[in-house]
Amino acid sequence: MTIRVGLVGVGNCASALVQSVEMHKHQPKLDPPAILARVKNYTPRDIVFTSAFDIDARKVDLDLSEAIFQPPNNAAVIFKPPRLGAVVRPGPVLDGVPGGGLVSKIVEGTVDDVVRELHSTNTEILVNYLPTGARKAAEAYAEAALRAGVAFVNAMPAPVTSSAHWQKRFAERGVPLLGDDTQNQIGATVLHKSLIRLLALRGVRVRRTYQINIGGTPDFLNLMYRHDDKVASKTAAVKTMAEGQEFDAYIAPVAYIRFLGDRKIAHMLIEAEIFGGLPVRIEVTLEVHDAWNSVAVVVDAVRLAKLALDRGIGGPLLSASAWCFKNPPVHMSPEEAYRAVLEFIDGKRDR
Ligand SMILES: NC(=O)c1ccc[n+]([C@@H]2O[C@H](COP(=O)([O-])OP(=O)(O)OC[C@H]3O[C@@H](n4cnc5c(N)ncnc54)[C@H](O)[C@@H]3O)[C@@H](O)[C@H]2O)c1
Repeated sequence: MTIRVGLVGVGNCASALVQSVEMHKHQPKLDPPAILARVKNYTPRDIVFTSAFDIDARKVDLDLSEAIFQPPNNAAVIFKPPRLGAVVRPGPVLDGVPGGGLVSKIVEGTVDDVVRELHSTNTEILVNYLPTGARKAAEAYAEAALRAGVAFVNAMPAPVTSSAHWQKRFAERGVPLLGDDTQNQIGATVLHKSLIRLLALRGVRVRRTYQINIGGTPDFLNLMYRHDDKVASKTAAVKTMAEGQEFDAYIAPVAYIRFLGDRKIAHMLIEAEIFGGLPVRIEVTLEVHDAWNSVAVVVDAVRLAKLALDRGIGGPLLSASAWCFKNPPVHMSPEEAYRAVLEFIDGKRDR
C-alpha cells in the first residue's frame, strides 16, 4: 500500500515530516510517528513523497532529501534520508514570500506547472506548509490540487477548509479537503483548549486568559511580520471550548528569538472564578521542538485523507479536520474529535 504525498513549502515542518517517515521506514522498531494507532491498514511507512514545491532558489531543483536541510531551515536533524526521487519544483509566489528577508532569491512557477507536476508524479494528497499570511498562494495551490483531483491538507492558517467557497468547490469535484492549521501533538493550542474545556465542564467561570509564544524558527520570524491568521486560528480554537462563556483572550506569537533555534516556548495564564466568585489562577509553560511536534498529526491527516479517497468522499472532512487542525469547519474538544475520527475510520460517519 502506498500513499503518494506532495509538499508545498519545504521548510521546517516538511523537514521533520520527511525525516520521521523515512526514519520509520529504515528503523522499523521505532514507535510510529502517528497518534492514531490504526487508520484501517495504513501505516506511516506507506507514505511516499512524490512531489514538492518551493520558491526559494536554495531548495528548488534539489532532491527533497537534500532540500529539507537547506537554510533557513533549522529543524532538528535526526535522520538523513536517502535520495527520494522527488525534486523540488517552483510554484506560484504571490504573497508566499515570508517576512524577515528569509528568502533572497526567488524562483517562480505557475499553477499550471503545479497541476502538471501533480499529474505526472501521480500525487494523491498535497500538504500545504506555506508561511502564515500567504493566503493567495495557499488558494493558488488549493486550486491546483482541485484541478488535479488531489486531496488538499491545509497545515497552515489561511482559511481554506474553513471557507464555504472552498468547501463547496471540493465537494462538487469530489475531492477531500482537510484543515486549517495543524494542531500539534502536544502544542500550546491543544493544551490551552483542554484546560479551558476542563474549567467549563467543572462549572468554573473563565474570566481572562493569555497565551504568548516565542521561538527561533523561520516560522516565528515570519510571524513577527504577519500573524493575523495565526492569532485568529488559535483564538477560535480556545474560545470555542467554553460554550456560553464570554471572556477576554489574548493569544499571540510575541517574539522571534534566534538562539532558541527550533524550540518554541509557550506561556499560558488563565484567571477564573469558582463558586462565590473566588479566584483561580493557572499558569503553564510548555517547551517543544515545534516542527517535530506537528509530524504525528500530519501523518494522521494524510492517512485519513487517503481513506476518504478510497471511499470516494469529497469536500471537507469534518471529523479528521477537528482531530488534526486548530481551525476546522466544526470545532470539537480533543475527546469529541477523537471519538468522531474513530467513527469515521470505522465507517460509522461519512465525514
Ligand atoms: N509545529 C509547527 O511548526 C506548526 C504547527 C501548526 C502550523 N504550522 C504552520 O505551518 C506552516 C509551515 O511551517 P514551517 O515551520 O515549515 O515554516 P517555514 O517557514 O520553515 O517553511 C515555509 C516554506 O514555504 C516556502 N514558500 C514560501 N512561499 C512559497 C510559495 N509561494 N510556494 C512554495 N513554497 C513557498 C518557503 O520558502 C519555506 O521553505 C506555517 O504557516 C506554520 O505557521 C506550523
